[in-house]
Amino acid sequence: MTSRREFISTATLAAAGVALAPLAACSQERAAAPAATAAAAKPFSGTLITRAIPSTGEKIPVIGMGTSGSFEVGAEAGERAPLREVLEAFVAAGGTLIDTAPTYSTAEDVLGDLVAQTKTRGKLFLATKLSGVTGREEGLKQFNDTLRRLRTDKVELLQVHNLRDTATQMALIGELKQQGRTKYSGMTHYREDGQAQLADEMRKHKPDFIQINYSPVSRGAEQTVFPLAQELGCAVMINRAFEDGRLISQVRDKPLPPWAKEVGADSWAQLFLKFVLSHPAVTVVIPATSKVRHQVDNLRAGTGPLLDAKQRQALIAALA
Ligand SMILES: NC(=O)c1ccc[n+]([C@@H]2O[C@H](COP(=O)([O-])OP(=O)(O)OC[C@H]3O[C@@H](n4cnc5c(N)ncnc54)[C@H](OP(=O)(O)O)[C@@H]3O)[C@@H](O)[C@H]2O)c1
Repeated sequence: MTSRREFISTATLAAAGVALAPLAACSQERAAAPAATAAAAKPFSGTLITRAIPSTGEKIPVIGMGTSGSFEVGAEAGERAPLREVLEAFVAAGGTLIDTAPTYSTAEDVLGDLVAQTKTRGKLFLATKLSGVTGREEGLKQFNDTLRRLRTDKVELLQVHNLRDTATQMALIGELKQQGRTKYSGMTHYREDGQAQLADEMRKHKPDFIQINYSPVSRGAEQTVFPLAQELGCAVMINRAFEDGRLISQVRDKPLPPWAKEVGADSWAQLFLKFVLSHPAVTVVIPATSKVRHQVDNLRAGTGPLLDAKQRQALIAALA
């Protein structure tokens, strides 16, 4: 099992000096969405940007959410109530894609229960994984357990977690696609040292989605993975946009740059998410939070202008 607390080394962060890919105009649209109603310091308003999944053209909002850590709680009502608010605010804003995994301890159970309680399954794009399994039978058993835990009979996206047993698990995902039990296939990693292998597997298996880490201090994906995803027509989902929270800690006492208001941002979190989304290869980003005020903050990054090349460089420089 991969822990979200496993973090990228300082050396990897320092090695983030790669050239920026040219920022071609992104194909994106504004989707009408109702305003969020959940209690939060500053309510969400506006419409989330959407982008197309290349293999089908289906459009999804650019802000998704993760569940590692944040949804790994017990059965107590007090532990789950804030997560229900996080989910409700997400759906009310028009968010759809939620990423989870059977190896995030209780996350699938908690998510499945909250989705059932809030009756939101029909509005969601659920992404989960075949995780830490070897062989077809183990993979199939885990997927059947996942469906039970998520209280659903199918998911929108099934991903091979961290490239484990990739050929066998991708073949299984292909079968499940045929049966309509997952709509899309995918493969994930979360570290720069996994990106060369990810690129090899992308060429072999041509998944609908890849999921990889990317942030202003971890830009390795710009070198091979992003251009390859564009060439092959893979949707790109971004994990660890906040470096598992460390980026937020790094800027805690720093004032926002003056140009933040030019892109409608009033938090560092929004700038980090807008940075990720301003790369034309990126389809969706999945920040994880256990707090509704952070959820609303993150959702606001999916509205208004993104960063231009100069603003991207200024953000990178501000973190150096
Ligand atoms: N191999 C893989 O496939 C893989 C690996 C890693 C992650 N993932 C996926 O990617 C998701 C995201 O990655 P991650 O969970 O590692 O970390 P992340 O999204 O980079 O950071 C999460 C941290 O940021 C904080 N946070 C979130 N929004 C905030 C805001 N607006 N202001 C201040 N702090 C904020 C959260 O704390 P609060 O709860 O206090 O808001 C949490 O500590 C995971 O949940 C998982 O679904 C996949």
